[in-house]
This record gives sequence, C-alpha cells and structure tokens, in this order.
Amino acid sequence: MDNIIDLLKKCRRGPQIITPKDAGVIITETGLNSGKRCLDAGGGSGFLTLMLANVVAPKGRVYSYEKNPNFAEIVKHNVKLCGLEKIVTVKNRDAEEFSEKNLDLITLDMKGAENLIGKCHKALKNKGFLCVYSPHIEQQNAASKRMKKEGFSQIKTVENIQREWLVGTHTHPIPSGVMHTGFLTFGRKI
Ligand SMILES: C[S@@+](CC[C@H](N)C(=O)[O-])C[C@H]1O[C@@H](n2cnc3c(N)ncnc32)[C@H](O)[C@@H]1O
Repeated sequence: MDNIIDLLKKCRRGPQIITPKDAGVIITETGLNSGKRCLDAGGGSGFLTLMLANVVAPKGRVYSYEKNPNFAEIVKHNVKLCGLEKIVTVKNRDAEEFSEKNLDLITLDMKGAENLIGKCHKALKNKGFLCVYSPHIEQQNAASKRMKKEGFSQIKTVENIQREWLVGTHTHPIPSGVMHTGFLTFGRKI
C-alpha cells in the first residue's frame, strides 16, 4: 500500500511546495502527533497540509486556507488522492479571515505572513507553536521581530540543508541538487 511519500509523488503541483525534508523539521520541532489541531496557510499545492494531516490523523484536523481558487482546487484534489478528506478542511478564503481557535500548530507559507502573527498568537492553545516558512531571510527577520512583539517565546530560525551522497567505489557528495529551500522560524505561545 502507498504511504504518504508515495502519494505525494502522484499529487498535482501548482505553487512551490514545502518539501518533505522541511515538513519533517516542522513536525519534529513542534512534537506534532495524532489528535492535534493545525491551521496551514497558504495551502498552495497542499504538500505541507498533507504531511501535517498524515501525522495528526485519525482524530486531528488540518484547516488549509488558500485564497486562489485554482490552487484551492489543487489542494482539494491532492487531499482526495491521499485519502485525507476526513482530516483536512480546505477553505478557499484569505487566511486573514480565519476563525479557528484552540489550535496546536499554525504554519504560514505566504507573502505577508508577519501581518497574521498577532491573530495567530490569540488562536493558539497555551504551548502551541507557530512556524513561518520562506525562501527569503528578509521575511524571516520580519516574522521573528513580530513574534517577539506579539509575545511568542522560544523563537528560532533554522535552515535544513540535506546533501545526498553517491556511495560506491568512489564515494562523494552528489555535486548537483537543491541546497537551499527555505528558512523556518518557530515561536511558541507560553
Ligand atoms: C508557496 S505557496 C504554499 C505552498 C504550500 N506550503 C505547499 O507545501 O504546497 C503560497 C500560497 O499562499 C497563497 N496565499 C498568499 N496569500 C494568502 C492569503 N492571504 N490567504 C491565503 N492564501 C494565501 C498563495 O496563493 C500561494 O498558493
């Protein structure tokens, strides 16, 4: 039977995704597990939404906000393909309008994410996490500053670089491939 990694290879792609290597860091840094309630914006191609849903199933929930109707359709298609319709609610709305409360994790991968940070602090449970993802360090600086201003604790920014090696008689790192994907800034409501 296909697992989530097999299924993601069959998913449609629209906007640039968060890769499984970065989703893995989000899951481990926040201690995400079954039953947790998450909000993910923007939904994009749904890849992070799906990785989160795979972990919080069967009792958890992921609310995925995507304002572009074409991309929201891609997220819905991919959620169905992965059989996660009971876990994920896709909302074709601006994330600024989100109304969910008592969340364990909020992930933001969208322009202007820093403007949502105050609202995120209010919507998180005590000890809940916020994670802002961006390929650009300027957005991480803005997010970091705003997290501090809004009262988040344990703020930190990380980059997760993976280097694959070719193993054989002449073993060496593969000299091509994606090095930089994005920066991840975490904060916790404590
Ligand atoms: C880089 S993509 C997200 C990719 C996604 N994390 C994934 O793994 O597939 C950014 C998305 O944010 C959406 N977006 C930007 N601003 C938004 C907003 N205010 N509310 C909801 N979605 C927004 C864009 O339409 C775009 O699809």
